[in-house]
Amino acid sequence: MAADAPIAALAEQVVARCRELATVSEEPGRLTRPYASPAMARANALVGGWMTEAGLAARVDAAGNLVGRRGGTDLHAGTLLLGSHLDTVRDAGAFDGPLGVLTAIAALQRLRDEGRTLPYAVDVLGFADEEGLRFGTAYLGSRAVAGTWDPALLALTDEAGISLRDALASFGAMPGSVAAASRAGEPLLGYLEVHMEQGPVLEELGAPVGIVSAIAGATRAHVRFTGRAGHAGTVPMALRHDAACAAAELVLAVEATARGVDGLVATVGRLEALPGAPNVVPGGAVASIDVRHADDDVRAAAVADLRATAQEIAAARGVQLSWEVRLDNPAVAVDPGLTQHLAVAAQAAIGAPAPRLPSGAGHDGVALSALCGVAMLFVRCAGGLSHHPDESVAAADVVVALEVLDGVLTALAQEPAWT
Ligand code: GLV
Ligand code: MN
Ligand code: MN
Repeated sequence: MAADAPIAALAEQVVARCRELATVSEEPGRLTRPYASPAMARANALVGGWMTEAGLAARVDAAGNLVGRRGGTDLHAGTLLLGSHLDTVRDAGAFDGPLGVLTAIAALQRLRDEGRTLPYAVDVLGFADEEGLRFGTAYLGSRAVAGTWDPALLALTDEAGISLRDALASFGAMPGSVAAASRAGEPLLGYLEVHMEQGPVLEELGAPVGIVSAIAGATRAHVRFTGRAGHAGTVPMALRHDAACAAAELVLAVEATARGVDGLVATVGRLEALPGAPNVVPGGAVASIDVRHADDDVRAAAVADLRATAQEIAAARGVQLSWEVRLDNPAVAVDPGLTQHLAVAAQAAIGAPAPRLPSGAGHDGVALSALCGVAMLFVRCAGGLSHHPDESVAAADVVVALEVLDGVLTALAQEPAWT
């Protein structure tokens, strides 16, 4: 029991820090922390301080990601990447993302407190844009780290019309130098992420942690219908080109398509009528479409169907359609070696094989898979709730996650993957 006390305290600290970080927001009264925002800068400063306390050298990279480094004892042993993301959705919970960053920091704090060294270096990454809230795409920070950043992305604009180029400049990053965040070409042992499950499976199975078997593919499109604005009192119904009505039809088509295909999920999470006045026939409408399936062919077919449907709706209503794909990621396989280390460490921690489950949610590992092997550990969450302010993770389950992480760190030190 005595040996468990420090790790229990560390786990409590992880949960308390997630909750403290949840007060760092762009919006009063609710947690919203978009990419390259002032709230993100404050979050980087707060978490950077916790990194420093844990003995890590903290910095913000050229894409705005927070990086905390612990050196290894063997200069040739390469670097293991740990972490998750510090940005959030709108009206978010405290654990989606920060749990993985703070668990990684706590695991390294434990090593330092116990005076243990590792041959390899470890970087804890707090990615800046896993959710893609601000620019409608995702993984901008992790794509930069993976070396797949495309400078054309700088032209993306947010809802306020601010370009990614200007947002980065205001954030203090140099938009022309984002590629400098790339870790491509370095000797890397892989990327390991702890994340809350965001679904109900582990809770139903009574398991504190689970091992991710694959990450589902996802497509996000930014759709705009352009019709003709007019006076709500004078334009007869038969003569209207109402863009919001076109968008409304598409929303229902998205739902019907997903309901008709096993395993397919599709969502319109953003919907706006323009110019947005009660007495103006909407001349414009903007919608986001998010489509996911474990099988890439099924997802691609669904996206093609929805695009054709949007075209039919537009033609029937005499409005124009613009369909811009902002994210299109295939399903990602996890690294077998790292995942096996996770499985062994999890079995030791819980005394039984940990469940394996696919991730329906996207993660920075999707982008990092272009750079190195990726593996993920899920932590049980209450009621399967996520992307919701009430999301919650128990400190007792964080204890298990810390034990698993420690087991993997130790196993990697004994079985050098870099040789
Ligand atoms: C991130 O949470 C995503 O799956 O969109
Ligand atoms: Mn999320
Ligand atoms: Mn997440």
